[in-house]
Amino acid sequence: MLKKKIEDICNRQVEREGYSSNLYLAMASWAETNGFSGVAAWLYTQSDEERLHMLKFIKYINERGGKAVMPALKKPAAEFKSVEDVFKEVLKHEEFVTASINEIVALTLEEKDFNTHNFLQWFVFEQVEEETSVRNVLDKIRLVGKNNMYQFDRDILSLRTPAANAQSNP
Ligand code: FEO
Repeated sequence: MLKKKIEDICNRQVEREGYSSNLYLAMASWAETNGFSGVAAWLYTQSDEERLHMLKFIKYINERGGKAVMPALKKPAAEFKSVEDVFKEVLKHEEFVTASINEIVALTLEEKDFNTHNFLQWFVFEQVEEETSVRNVLDKIRLVGKNNMYQFDRDILSLRTPAANAQSNP
């Protein structure tokens, strides 16, 4: 049985993963309507992954005797300045999610909830993977230059790591 404190913070993470999925959908829609089909495909895939992260938390909470509660989600922005700005925002958001996961990990230790601690290890590794993946994208934008977005858009899907591709194509 989950302690109330752990259930509540896991439900907070349901909201954060759900918002991540919506945020990346909003970015994908912006990219798609501005001619960046590769960037849009990357973001749609990322959005699907975030929904899976949300589901993992929902199922875990319910399986451990708690109750997952579906949150209202904040409306993400619809306009972005550039592709580079989109990915800078993705990185900032992923760093926020990493801090959020770490906060739950710390609470599980404080509360001696080793089952939830174990469950969270997947997310700890996943956040390293996701931050690395976005930093690689930003490095590539710097390499090709902001004026060569056609080439960047064409190549972006090859930047996904094998682990990330395996996760989205189980
Ligand atoms: Fe589920 Fe990218 O954090």
